[in-house]
Amino acid sequence: MSVLVTGVAGFIGSQVAQRLLARGEAVVGVDNFSPYYDPVLKFARLKPLRGTEGFTFVEADVADRDALAALADAHPDFDRIVHLAAQPGVRHSKVDPYIYVRTNVMGHLVMLELAREMGGRLKHFVYASSSSVYGGNSKLPFSVEDPVDHPESLYAATKRADELMVEAYAHQYGMRATGLRYFTVYGPWGRPDMSPYIFARAIHEGKTIPLYHMGRIKRDFTYIDEIAAGTIAALDHVPAGGVRGGAHRLYNLGATRSVDIRHVVSLFEKALGKSANIELKPGEAGDMRETAADIAATTRDLGWSPKVTVEEGIPLFVEWFKRYNRL
Ligand SMILES: NC(=O)c1ccc[n+]([C@@H]2O[C@H](COP(=O)([O-])OP(=O)(O)OC[C@H]3O[C@@H](n4cnc5c(N)ncnc54)[C@H](O)[C@@H]3O)[C@@H](O)[C@H]2O)c1
Repeated sequence: MSVLVTGVAGFIGSQVAQRLLARGEAVVGVDNFSPYYDPVLKFARLKPLRGTEGFTFVEADVADRDALAALADAHPDFDRIVHLAAQPGVRHSKVDPYIYVRTNVMGHLVMLELAREMGGRLKHFVYASSSSVYGGNSKLPFSVEDPVDHPESLYAATKRADELMVEAYAHQYGMRATGLRYFTVYGPWGRPDMSPYIFARAIHEGKTIPLYHMGRIKRDFTYIDEIAAGTIAALDHVPAGGVRGGAHRLYNLGATRSVDIRHVVSLFEKALGKSANIELKPGEAGDMRETAADIAATTRDLGWSPKVTVEEGIPLFVEWFKRYNRL
């Protein structure tokens, strides 16, 4: 039996696949090398996976029903799905809203249909949601029990839609599923569109870093190794079935420390040995001011309690950033 991992060339997907392979699982990985950011980084993440026994790669778009049907026919042996392929990024959802609905809603539906057609063979459907679903909530830390009816971006709305679609499928078809609300993930192999990479590059090149909301932003930065471990802990914890056998759980995966963005910049300055040029800017619609995860349920059910602090994780990210970019 194997695990189907979508978005396998992505930041989180590649690390999850690596861990699954390391514990002897077979992995079927899917990705379409979306051009949202430089696919060269995606090829580089995939390289060590391709050389590992038990790994099979299929280049496909998750919103392409025929391609996914062909994949299911060619690989009839996976019994779990980790669906991480998505169009990420809050800001970009104002630039190209259609790709968010195509990948995050249609692609999500195609994955759910594939899971449904597996019937009893499917043991667990795990998928990526996001802390962005908490949107305009002012109560901190964010708990999975909190109402999430005020997304502040189309990206967040698609992630919330994903959760509701899974809820319906779990109910209608007796599916076991777990959604993971990731909080600002950073670390080696990180995404160039996210603040850690943007900060590192700008400081290295002596360029200006724009800090929105006049720099009054706090984020619950969560180290990639913890996220990969938490995703696998979730995969291993199949929720107990309800009346029709189905069950759907949601968990926050966040480090639980809301860190001031200016402190994060100072850690990059220290790790790179250079000062940052900061430009304070007003807030942009869609950008949340503060995020912090309540992980009581995650710790209770999955035994997950992250330890890596930004003081430890940012130097590790910078080390990789320099090596990868040959600086
Ligand atoms: N990184 C974070 O901080 C964060 C936070 C919250 C949620 N998430 C979610 O976690 C998941 C993984 O995010 P990530 O940071 O690894 O992003 P990523 O962009 O690095 O990885 C996503 C991968 O999916 C692939 N992809 C995109 N569209 C596809 C399609 N139509 N078909 C097949 N593959 C496609 C991309 O090529 C990419 O390799 C996403 O669902 C994202 O929304 C990430």
